[in-house]
Amino acid sequence: MTTSDDTKKAPAKDPWELPDVSGLVVGVLGGTGDQGRGLAYRLAKSGQKVIIGSRAAERAQTAAAELGLGVEGADNSECARRSDIVIVAVPWDGHAKTLEALREELAGKLVIDCVNPLGFDKKGAYALTPEEGSAAEQAAALLPESRVTAAFHHLSAVLLADPEIAEIDTDVMVLGEARADTDLVQALAGRIPGMRGVFAGRLRNAHQVESLVANLISVNRRYKAHAGLRVTDV
Ligand SMILES: NC(=O)c1ccc[n+]([C@@H]2O[C@H](COP(=O)([O-])OP(=O)(O)OC[C@H]3O[C@@H](n4cnc5c(N)ncnc54)[C@H](OP(=O)(O)O)[C@@H]3O)[C@@H](O)[C@H]2O)c1
Repeated sequence: MTTSDDTKKAPAKDPWELPDVSGLVVGVLGGTGDQGRGLAYRLAKSGQKVIIGSRAAERAQTAAAELGLGVEGADNSECARRSDIVIVAVPWDGHAKTLEALREELAGKLVIDCVNPLGFDKKGAYALTPEEGSAAEQAAALLPESRVTAAFHHLSAVLLADPEIAEIDTDVMVLGEARADTDLVQALAGRIPGMRGVFAGRLRNAHQVESLVANLISVNRRYKAHAGLRVTDV
C-alpha cells in the first residue's frame, strides 16, 4: 500500500553542499606546463596532496621541487596510478595520444579535462571542433572506465602562478555525467581561495565551454588582462 508519506519527495539537496576532498591525491598530467603547474601550485597551497606528471619523470621532479609544498613529480603513468583525481593539462595536439596510453592507469579515476582545442592565425584564437564534439568527449570516448569531467578551462595560468595573488577571483564551470563526480570537482575548485565551482551541464555541452577561451583570449589581448568568468545569480 502506498501512503501519502511514501509519495512525498525527498527534500532537494542543497547544490552547495559539497563533499570533503581534502584527503584526495590530485595528479596533473602535463603538470610541467603553465596551466598544470599553476593548478598544482594553487591546490598544493590549499593543502591538497599533488603529484605533477610529465612525459619525463625528471622534468616533473624538477618542477615539483621548484613548487615545494609537498608536491611530487613522476612520469604521467605513475602520476595517474597514484592519484585519486587526475587533471589533464596537456596541449590539444597531445591529448588523444596521452590518454590512450594511460587507459589502464586511469580506470576508475576521476578525470578532469581542462584542454581547450584552439587554433591560432593572424586574426587571433579560434575554436577547433574535435570529431567527438569536444576534448572532454574525446577523453570520455578514450577512457570508458574512467569518470570523465571537464573544468578549469577559463583560468589564467599567469594568475595561478603569481604568488602575490592570494585569491583567484573566478568561477569554474564544471561539466560531467554524474552528479557525485561534478560535486567532487566543484569541491576541488572551491579549495582555491576566491574560486567557486559551478555545475554547468553534461559533457555534450563541453564544446562551448572549451571554445569560450578563444573569446577570453580576445578580451585579454584588447584589455591587456587575464580575464576570468563569473556566473551571476547562483
Ligand atoms: N595556459 C593557460 O592559461 C590555460 C588555461 C586553461 C586551460 N589550458 C589548457 O591546458 C592545457 C595545457 O596548457 P599549457 O599552456 O600548460 O600547455 P603547455 O605548457 O604547452 O604544455 C603542458 C605540458 O604538456 C606536455 N606536453 C607538451 N606537448 C605534449 C604532447 N604532444 N603530448 C603530451 N604531453 C605534451 C609538456 O610536459 P612534458 O614535456 O613535461 O611532458 C608541457 O609542459 C592546454 O590544453 C590548454 O588548452 C591552458
